[in-house]
Amino acid sequence: MQQISTKPLKHILVCTNERPHGKECCSNVQGYEIFRELKDWVKANGLASSVWVTRTGCLGFCNNVGATVVIYPGQLWLREVKKDEIEKIKSLVLESVKQTL
Ligand code: FES
Repeated sequence: MQQISTKPLKHILVCTNERPHGKECCSNVQGYEIFRELKDWVKANGLASSVWVTRTGCLGFCNNVGATVVIYPGQLWLREVKKDEIEKIKSLVLESVKQTL
């Protein structure tokens, strides 16, 4: 095992989990679309080395309203995130990254 010294300033985890038979899951509430938009935003704004965006399996807060998103460090857990709320997440992350740089 080797410890990794390269770390992002922010790591955004977006649940894109699919569940069968119509069960509540982030895949049904645009989890992948939210992940994709955040990932593209990071790349387009030259933030890829400081802000990582990772899609995940179930984070334990499945619902039929919006996806579950977690931002580290700081352990900001958000549930029921809808696509039209992504701008708030971008602002939050950007503000935090600017304070660190
Ligand atoms: S499917 Fe996303 S939190 Fe469970």
